[in-house]
Amino acid sequence: MKNLIDIKDLSVEEIDELIAKAKDIMSHPENYWDKCKHKKLATLFFEPSTRTRLSFESAMMELGGNVIGFSSGSSSSTSKGESVSDTIRVVGCYSDIIAMRHPKEGAPLVASLKSTVPIINAGDGGHNHPTQTLTDLLTISCEKNRLDNLTIGLCGDLKFGRTIHSLITAMSRYKNVKFVLISLKELGIPEYIKEEVLEKNNIEYIETDDIEEYMDKLDILYMTRVQKERFFNEEEYLRLKDHYILTKNKLEKAKKDLCIMHPLPRVNEISTEVDDDPRACYFKQAMYGKYIRMALILKLLEIK
Ligand code: CP
Repeated sequence: MKNLIDIKDLSVEEIDELIAKAKDIMSHPENYWDKCKHKKLATLFFEPSTRTRLSFESAMMELGGNVIGFSSGSSSSTSKGESVSDTIRVVGCYSDIIAMRHPKEGAPLVASLKSTVPIINAGDGGHNHPTQTLTDLLTISCEKNRLDNLTIGLCGDLKFGRTIHSLITAMSRYKNVKFVLISLKELGIPEYIKEEVLEKNNIEYIETDDIEEYMDKLDILYMTRVQKERFFNEEEYLRLKDHYILTKNKLEKAKKDLCIMHPLPRVNEISTEVDDDPRACYFKQAMYGKYIRMALILKLLEIK
């Protein structure tokens, strides 16, 4: 049985297969309507979510399957003190596959050690969010027609943004990918990502706190929200939260085929005036999330 806990659980070949499958589902959805008939997905969300939970649920429904689950720990027996391991053992009796989001880093890994059904990490603390990364890779593949030879700007909360950590890890495996890391030093990329991913693999990267400095070089600009829920100090969050706001003016020097991404939810990081720019891809990105999750469910359930 396979789980998806970290994007590194998938080889480049497996990622490419998932992307090809998602594209086939987009082109021929009718071929997939019954693939998961009589199968059940459990969505166990101990932290809030809109896109990840609902796109998983929509994905399973479009494959002909059913969905059970909860959208907060407080509405489950976790509130009575049940452990994650016990919850997982029990939910495995009622479902064929589980997508789980938890505030504690490593909780989905612990769950996978006890589970009788495949576990998908739908976000664990500030650590990883592999299905967002698959969504991002499908978006880049569809919008840029390639996953190599790209200069990617990552802007905002690079410290707590789990989508950033998984995306750098995944993109570092493709040829000639460079990163421009745009953040205030308080929210800079963790040292372990620099050392264990970027430097270990000789990936070119630049750090700056100026969003416009390298704008003309970027093929992709990936904006992120400052992760309020990871701060211990409200004042610090308020001081940092609105530092980067992408506006039309800031895009003046950007390439005509720049792809602007954001995992969403957006707070203030992208002005709504950018939404009508043809380079704004973030709502399409959310749509791609459903298709890549359909492909992933089929893979983990070993359905051809
Ligand atoms: N991108 C993302 O994970 O969104 P949600 O928190 O709404 O699931």
